[in-house]
Amino acid sequence: MSEDADETLSALHHELRRFPPPPDLAASANAQPGIYQEAAADPLAFWAEQARRLTWAEPWHQVLEWDLPFASWFVGGRLNVSVNCVDRHVEAGQGERVAFHWEGEPGDTRTITYADLRVQVCKAANALTTLGVTAGDKVAIYMPMVPEAVVAMLACARLGAPHTVVFGGFSAEALRDRILDCDARVVITADGGYRRGAASALKPAVDAALADCPDVASVLVVRRTGQEVDWQDGRDHWWHELVDPQSDRHTPEYFDAEQPLYIMYTSGTTAKPKGILHTSGGYLTHVSATHRLVFDVKPETDVCWTAADIGWVTGHSYIVYGPLANGVTSVMYEGTPDTPNRGRWWEIVERYQVSILYTAPTTIRTFMKWGPEVPAVHDLSSLRLLGSVGEPINPEAWMWYRTHIGGDRCPVVDTWWQTETGGILITPLPGITTTKPGAAMTPFPGIAAEVVDNEGQAVGDGEGGYLVITRPWPGMLRGIWGDPERYRETYWSRFPGMYFAGDGAKKDEDGDLWLLGRVDDVMNISGHRISTTEVEHALVGNPAVAEAAVVGASDDTTGQAIVAFVTLKGDLVKSDEESAAVVAELRDSVSTSIGPIAKPREIILTPELPKTRSGKIMRRLLRDVAEHRDLGDVTTLLDPSVVNAISERMATPGAEEE
Ligand code: WTA
Repeated sequence: MSEDADETLSALHHELRRFPPPPDLAASANAQPGIYQEAAADPLAFWAEQARRLTWAEPWHQVLEWDLPFASWFVGGRLNVSVNCVDRHVEAGQGERVAFHWEGEPGDTRTITYADLRVQVCKAANALTTLGVTAGDKVAIYMPMVPEAVVAMLACARLGAPHTVVFGGFSAEALRDRILDCDARVVITADGGYRRGAASALKPAVDAALADCPDVASVLVVRRTGQEVDWQDGRDHWWHELVDPQSDRHTPEYFDAEQPLYIMYTSGTTAKPKGILHTSGGYLTHVSATHRLVFDVKPETDVCWTAADIGWVTGHSYIVYGPLANGVTSVMYEGTPDTPNRGRWWEIVERYQVSILYTAPTTIRTFMKWGPEVPAVHDLSSLRLLGSVGEPINPEAWMWYRTHIGGDRCPVVDTWWQTETGGILITPLPGITTTKPGAAMTPFPGIAAEVVDNEGQAVGDGEGGYLVITRPWPGMLRGIWGDPERYRETYWSRFPGMYFAGDGAKKDEDGDLWLLGRVDDVMNISGHRISTTEVEHALVGNPAVAEAAVVGASDDTTGQAIVAFVTLKGDLVKSDEESAAVVAELRDSVSTSIGPIAKPREIILTPELPKTRSGKIMRRLLRDVAEHRDLGDVTTLLDPSVVNAISERMATPGAEEE
């Protein structure tokens, strides 16, 4: 990165607030000081120790076999992932412990103990067997957030049949492409699920997708909403008719540690999504260890709520595999946070006495927009730890989360990781780390990360660059499904010998890590590099701003120019004059906090920002809007009308400044 970039980056980090661990949490924390040194002294021994917390049918004879960039962990070991997540807890006498407090959006609830879960998983595994599923067969799961989604994943894992969960909000085409890419032969779905107060159908998308997937022989359908469904006899089976009558016993087979567990599709730089492959022993070791140490979970007393969809990696690792491997109690909620009112999440926290909450900054900023009075009327005193994931968290959102949700007593852990990494890699440890608002801080024990310059040389403290991981880790992706060359090229070629995450990061003066967003979101203005995140931080720092997204739009003169899309809090702006004044003030505040170079060329005030279903702001789309390009397919948008609203604002004379 250039010197100018370094200067602008350092402007971001005059953050002096520090939050040491609460003494009582520190005293009884699962991770005690010394863990870093111990892991650094012998990372493989550290990971082996974590792996020994799982139940293995046969021990491994080698911790790691590394033929860069292809890794095998716990070579020769055999285990069954579903036995580790379910059976062993029942056998240890914990069958009556609640695995899930589930709540449907309409308000219906289900309590599922570990004993219940074992019965369900065994029945589902038997049902899949009758459909011909055996080890190695791929199963696509396209479901709402109902307990059967977890049961389906675990039943696949039990049979050694890799699942690919496709987020229920994806289109039929997206589903079809994923089914075809991994050659799934069975699809598990539901008639629909509840979202925003209404039944939202899923089966029609499956029917449409399968018109082009002749090799799919069976569809298993959970009845959730009771909606009318088209039915193809011979192919389609109701879950309650096929699964419920099965035997509640199932004798598991034990699989190699490298047995594929799942394929999760994620977007890359091309139009074709990448099928990220995760396997069994290393992945389960990584997610259970990080869940236990980062969230400091105490299975006897904690109630964990990872408020993410099961269709994303966060749901896989921290709703299903990590928490269940640790035998903890979780909350699972079907719907949206503002149905039927904006206090829904806080009612859930209160009702189930949630102690650990894990969510994304975008959600936190939505809550900020709704105002602190919404959570304030609920008793959130059961909370003892808060986590953030998915995008850089700006210090203001971090502080808001800590203050208004965490009652100023809960540590906030900002956890950095990716679909590809399987589990958390960079994070504070709540009983050890003195946190800084907005910083992901340090690599997890046993993880080796670095920030490097263009030539792959480590940068010094106080400097920014590219985030790389320099040693293999157990939860790492084992490749891109069907495309080893793309795997090597995408992740291992930019800096030879290192995994390139695609993110920019900065080491502050203490050597702690601050994530700066994807490097493809780093703009180049007249040869000066400026992170979109940085400008967003500056904008969101203004008390009137709820949320901001910044893109680099191409510009004939400066290469790129900064265009900012800004959502204001509440109804602060009533007239055109007022918006012009706010826009002028915002430009000045960016200029003051970073420098005139970072002044946005345009600031567009918009009621909402376009987001993917997982809550990520669609910067590429905003860039297209900013450059007045044709928008193409926007079916993965949460609310496609937002884009049109923004386009119209841009076309309105006066919306653009200067
Ligand atoms: C971003 C989600 C900053 C990052 C688990 C990464 C973050 C991408 C953080 C992966 C964080 C995730 N701070 N950025 N704490 N966590 N990211 O695959 O750009 O959906 O590369 O995995 O999200 O997104 P993915």
